[in-house]
Amino acid sequence: MSHDDFPTDETAVVTCGLPYANGDLHIGHLRGNIGADVYARALRRLGQRTAYVCGSDMHGTPIAVNADKEGVDPEEFALRYHEQYKETFDGFDVDFQNYGHTREPSNVELTQDIVRTLEDGGHIVEKEIQVAWDPIEDQPLPDRYVEGTCPYCGEKARGDECDEGCGRHLEPGEVEDPTSVITGNPAEYRERAHKFFRLSDFQEYLQEFIDRLEGTDNARNQPREWIEGELKDWCITRDLDWGIDYPDEEVDLVLYVWVDAPIEYIASTKDYSERVGREEYDWESVWKDEGGEIVHVIGPDIIQHHTVFWPAMLKGAGYNEPRAVMASGFVTLRGKGFSTSRNRAVWAEEYLDEGFDPDLLRFYLATNSGFQQDLDFSWGRFQERVNSELVGTLGNFVYRSLLFAHREYEGTPEVDVSDDVAHRIESAIDDFAAGINDYSVRKAGNAAIELARFGNEYIQRNEPWKLTDESPEEAAQVIRDCVQVAKAIAVLFQPIAPGTAQRLWEQLGESGDVAETTLDAALESPPASFDAPAELFEKIEDDHVAELNERLEVRSAEAEDDESDGSDDDADDGDETEAGADDHEDLEPLVDERISFDEFQGLDLRVGEIVSADPIEGADKLLRLEVDIGHEVRQIVAGLAQLHDADSLPGTRVVVVANLERAELFGVESNGMVLAAGDDADLLTTHGDAPVGTKVR
Ligand code: MSP
Ligand code: ZN
Repeated sequence: MSHDDFPTDETAVVTCGLPYANGDLHIGHLRGNIGADVYARALRRLGQRTAYVCGSDMHGTPIAVNADKEGVDPEEFALRYHEQYKETFDGFDVDFQNYGHTREPSNVELTQDIVRTLEDGGHIVEKEIQVAWDPIEDQPLPDRYVEGTCPYCGEKARGDECDEGCGRHLEPGEVEDPTSVITGNPAEYRERAHKFFRLSDFQEYLQEFIDRLEGTDNARNQPREWIEGELKDWCITRDLDWGIDYPDEEVDLVLYVWVDAPIEYIASTKDYSERVGREEYDWESVWKDEGGEIVHVIGPDIIQHHTVFWPAMLKGAGYNEPRAVMASGFVTLRGKGFSTSRNRAVWAEEYLDEGFDPDLLRFYLATNSGFQQDLDFSWGRFQERVNSELVGTLGNFVYRSLLFAHREYEGTPEVDVSDDVAHRIESAIDDFAAGINDYSVRKAGNAAIELARFGNEYIQRNEPWKLTDESPEEAAQVIRDCVQVAKAIAVLFQPIAPGTAQRLWEQLGESGDVAETTLDAALESPPASFDAPAELFEKIEDDHVAELNERLEVRSAEAEDDESDGSDDDADDGDETEAGADDHEDLEPLVDERISFDEFQGLDLRVGEIVSADPIEGADKLLRLEVDIGHEVRQIVAGLAQLHDADSLPGTRVVVVANLERAELFGVESNGMVLAAGDDADLLTTHGDAPVGTKVR
């Protein structure tokens, strides 16, 4: 692995969190799959040899429990979802080089092999522990077979996770007052021998690893607390039939699902490599040997698994560590987490059934908010972005340019593209590459949108329709430039919207597949002739949104009823994800007292841009910022160090209270305040391009 900017000479692999084969996919799952797909496609555009692999996670107690309920074999149950997932991902143009599953022989073999290596290295120990047991059924109750009280926060918790309270991973034996999820019987604890992975062997390694790790700030910062604290041994076996056998015939246990699941990242890469041949893609050059660029894309609930357990396993078994972990925020609905069992979700298939182009959702999920921020989905907001950015900006620019070019010149006018426009395209290419190197699919995606915005302004400013008679040469130049911009958009937008980019490519008279090109193609001349274009996007109508909203209202209301009923069937839910700030009771109460408009006007709020950000000695949470607010550059002290990495802040637009009285914090003067939401200090930024210094009203 290198830490050089992409593209590097190494081979890359991009992975995304394996969905549990346990229920329909929703757009929360898609956020990671699509984010990773965009990232992998973008790396390829930069010229990086890249594979994107994933698979279905077939094991774990929820699958065993749900299969039991249906009276089918867990294998049959999980395979049914596995097949369904492949089709759904296909419907969204998610282009895996390999999509396997965790029960495939390649993964079973590799998992057992890795566990043996860890054992040989002395990293696995056996311990007698208390495990929950159903005394009436005489059956062990691993993970979600048991419920009780979290020993850390006192909330109701599942056997393996405090899902409604503090969010901690719970080890077997930890949950208090256990009851069986299957029978409702009070459970007891019995002593059983289990295998443990000695995480503490890797404490020093992990502390160095986390300093090197690239990716999103949440994935790099959150684990510090765990890695710096005491690393407890991790129980890697379960009393279950469903899972991969522990590789020792004397041990009648299966491996914990979180052992074999990430190993599928390697097995899936290996299967791909074996299918296409080592000359084309060599899995060992990524996972072993000198090492390639490994990028894991995941949701926010599995950061600990990917930054603590997994790198320790890789290290212990002699494999390469990931270069980067990109953790998305949750997709939520009215601020609440999706829930499969409560039907509180927007389903992936449902979206496709509405006849929407998959590229619209790809665009929305990849670019609507920063990748690590939660994204509260609403059809209205989806419609607004699609209609304004895709239809109004990108689609409109391309259509009017190509139509004009076709009518007046039957294609590309015969002049060279102007230097100014060539430079503008180059800077869009730079923005795209910078986005990828910053692990920001949003930045990379916006490069094409911004270019289209520029195109619209350019055509508007130059009014070629007025020039065709008066000054035909100038008209030809303007349209030539616009056709080049349209081609650059096809190249830059391809990772986000592969279907649309291909249609545009063909409208430009290009042959072949735009996916096969690299960024250089953005500046190559388009063909001399092409046909009349067709609109790239269709506007989403208000009626359609109203209908979708209504359906979602009913669904959310039912989910809420379900919740207030106290009927709780989500202990068997494979992918319940509760977003952090979803409970309204947790919100600070609204302030009753009103302020006058004049009082509000008294606040001098300004758009600012962070110029530099540096830590302050002795103050963990604070950063010393230099913020440009148009009139001057201000020094401001802000409590942002928790969620934001100082390095990533310069260039970020913020909202500044410019007339706040001066203060001194840790000996540093703060001349203003940067607005941010909540304890996590989620920064307020601007949606468009309001210049620095603009007053916020
Ligand atoms: N099987 C494990 C992952 C194993 S990876 C070696 C798992 N499965 S899951 O089905 O629960 O989730 C699959 C992926 O989707 C995870 O990356 C998870 O974080 C992500 N998400 C599931 N629901 C989500 C949202 N509502 N929002 C964003 N991401 C979500 O975890
Ligand atoms: Zn808890």
